[in-house]
Amino acid sequence: MQQSSSLRQQASFGTTTRKDAWWVEPVLVGLGFAAFIIYATFRAFENNYFEIGPYLSPFYSPKFNFDWWHMSPAFLILWIPAGFRATCYYYRKAYYRAYFADPPACAVGHFGGEKYCGETTFPLVLQNLHRYFFYLATIVLAVLWYDTVKAFFFNGAFGVSIVNLIMLANVILLSGYSFGCHACRHLVGGKLNCFSANACTKSQFKIWHWVTRLNEHHMLWAWLSLFSVGFTDFYIRQVACGAFPELQFF
Ligand code: FES
Repeated sequence: MQQSSSLRQQASFGTTTRKDAWWVEPVLVGLGFAAFIIYATFRAFENNYFEIGPYLSPFYSPKFNFDWWHMSPAFLILWIPAGFRATCYYYRKAYYRAYFADPPACAVGHFGGEKYCGETTFPLVLQNLHRYFFYLATIVLAVLWYDTVKAFFFNGAFGVSIVNLIMLANVILLSGYSFGCHACRHLVGGKLNCFSANACTKSQFKIWHWVTRLNEHHMLWAWLSLFSVGFTDFYIRQVACGAFPELQFF
C-alpha cells in the first residue's frame, strides 16, 4: 500500500529521481519543430520565389497548376510530408514528450493524469495511417529526385552550381530518412518468417539489412533531412529573389 502511494506520487508531473538535465532534449526538440513549422507555413502562404531557372523548391514540388485551386499550390503537397513526419515513430516520441509532456522524458512524471490509453482511440489511432503516408511520400521523393537531376541541366547543357548541389544533398538525406522508415522495413522483410527459404527471400534479406542500417539512425536522418529540406527551400528562395548569387561552378 505504501509502495503504491509512493508510485502515485512519483507519477505527478515532473517528479523524478534523475539527476541529469533530462529537460534539455524536449525543449530543444520543441523549439526545433516550432521553428520549422513556422517557416514552412510562412513559405506556403508566401507563394512566391519558389522557382528560378531549372531549380524548384521542394515545398512546391510536384508543381501543380489547377484552375480550380486558388490558394498556394504548396498546400496541395505539404500535407503529404507533414502527415508522413507527424505519424513517424520517432517524431511521435519526440513531440509527445516536447509538447504533451506525456511523459516529458524517461522516468519522469507525466502530464495529464492516467487517461492515456495508447494509440487505440481517436485521434491517436490515426497514427496507424503512417504506412500509407510512406507510400505517398515515396512518390513525392521520386519527383524530388527528378527535379534534382533536372537542376543539373541548363538549356540542355550539364552544369554544377551551389543550388543543385544543395538539392542533391537534400534528396540523399530525404532518401536516408524515408527508406529507414519502420513501415518500409516491415514492407521489405518484416513479415517474413524465414529469410533463407529461396533466392527471392535471400534478396529481401539484403534489402531488409540495408533498411535496418538506415533505421538504426532514424532520428539522425529525421533531423538532418528536416533541416536540409528547409534550407533547400530557403536557398532557392534567396536566389530567386536576388538576395544570394547562384554560384555556378561550370
Ligand atoms: S517511422 Fe519514421 S518515417 Fe516511418
